[in-house]
Amino acid sequence: MPGWLKDAVFYEIYPQTFKDTNNDGIGDIQGIIEKLDYVKALGCNALWINPCFDSPFKDAGYDVRDYKKVAPRYGTNEDLYRLFEEAHQKGIHVLLDLVPGHTSEEHEWFKESKKAQPNEYSDRYVWTHHWIQGIAGHPYIGGEADRNGCYMLNFFKCQPALNYGFLNRTEDWQLAPDHPACIATREALKDIMRFWLDHGCDGFRVDMADSLVKDDDENKSATGAIWKNIREMLDVDYPEAAIVSEWSNPHQSLKSGFHADFYLDHHGNGYNTLIRDNETPGGDHSFLKKDGNGDIMRFLLDYLPKYDDTKDDGYISFITCNHDTPRARLTLSYDELKIAWALFLTLPGVPFIYYGDEIGMRYLDIPTKEGGYTRTGTRTPMQWDNSKNYGFSTAEADKLYLPQDNSEDAPTVEKQAGDPDSLYNTTKALIALRHQFTDLQADGSFSVIYAEKEQFPFVYRRGNLLIAINPSDKKAAAELREDAFVKEDAAKGDVSKTSAVYSIGSCSISGSTLSIEAQSFAVFELV
Ligand code: GLC
Ligand code: CA
Repeated sequence: MPGWLKDAVFYEIYPQTFKDTNNDGIGDIQGIIEKLDYVKALGCNALWINPCFDSPFKDAGYDVRDYKKVAPRYGTNEDLYRLFEEAHQKGIHVLLDLVPGHTSEEHEWFKESKKAQPNEYSDRYVWTHHWIQGIAGHPYIGGEADRNGCYMLNFFKCQPALNYGFLNRTEDWQLAPDHPACIATREALKDIMRFWLDHGCDGFRVDMADSLVKDDDENKSATGAIWKNIREMLDVDYPEAAIVSEWSNPHQSLKSGFHADFYLDHHGNGYNTLIRDNETPGGDHSFLKKDGNGDIMRFLLDYLPKYDDTKDDGYISFITCNHDTPRARLTLSYDELKIAWALFLTLPGVPFIYYGDEIGMRYLDIPTKEGGYTRTGTRTPMQWDNSKNYGFSTAEADKLYLPQDNSEDAPTVEKQAGDPDSLYNTTKALIALRHQFTDLQADGSFSVIYAEKEQFPFVYRRGNLLIAINPSDKKAAAELREDAFVKEDAAKGDVSKTSAVYSIGSCSISGSTLSIEAQSFAVFELV
């Protein structure tokens, strides 16, 4: 386990829309370099940069044409190497985005693979043996290649599936995961990883990490075996490199070698019940919505077994949102967001903040761009200051990669930096708190102290810290069990003499009674 992950707070950057330095309306690597001090001042010490590689951009860069080349619209490889260097000088680690399951249909491998003449890349992708023979249960394309066969897709039409084999094989064109061609795909992936690690990157966020071996068993054990093999390489040659999976099943991912796995927003899962539970009848019942009458138990029933089962293997990563989900500001107010970030930044694991969420940027209802569809509204240019285009770019507004929030009260870093109560300053204080107390960091212990069905507050322990959260619009109270006050070393801790080391709103403890005002959050240290 790379030691730096323990105290890591990630900042996700969508390169298209973070900072444009050459006025072409699109963000670039130099822009990220210029904003490293901003990231550092916020308290983040690690970055995840969405794909910045050469691509036709039919899926915003998740359709990679050349894994080893920075997309010219963002700069050059040298710019990215310089970003690694300058980030490291500031104590910031950098994860790139690795797309192992598919390439662009314009990738050289695929161009070779499509040819009628057999060659080194013929089995790099999944092909059937006849132009009219499809792939039952999977998306595929016919009629596009000279080769006599149909090829399988992994996501959009522009993203043919790389071939890691099939575990359960029913057709003669399906290769076993240990077929030399499938091993060659895995080795090609390792070669790409080594290339960027050798140039100074610190690891990867791994796209659709569970998608490698097709018709895998229910534990995804054949896909897991590939990641275990890759993890062995990292442990030997790059022990400080980290891999974080887009999998959202820590039982599988963390036991297959990933250091962390995202807790994604999937319908009805624990994350969804906290922040965006608006698909159930009767409105939004999110726990973090002040009038949602939410239920922390719905979160805990999903999260706790996952946490308990995997805490010795790796970390579960909470996200404020990501480039695929609506921004939380769509349904939560600024005050609700403060409490939400307070929860995410004090739970175990490695947290990720999506650029702009620290100021509560809005989700905009805008037309699709580069395969974004409903995700596009989350990808708009960062709002830095009150100058032209909010300081994102000096290009004319109609030349920007995406339009910006034109409302009077559009948040900017500049507006919020001067206000001690702003979401920006609250986020900053919460991150600082996490760095200050090792108990709050990724592997500090976690236990539930008070959680009752449809009740507030929620009270939990992280090491010797006692934390209470009441996102509702009503005052709440809880009787705490005696063990709430027993310190990690079994000595009896005393909380009544200490006031909160950090709070939003107001909370107090008298004897064993904790009282907390509406929309409040507090951290107490047992002394
Ligand atoms: C992941 C990415 C998403 C992309 C898809 C296909 O879910 O986060 O943005 O479109 O994979 O690569
Ligand atoms: Ca630019």
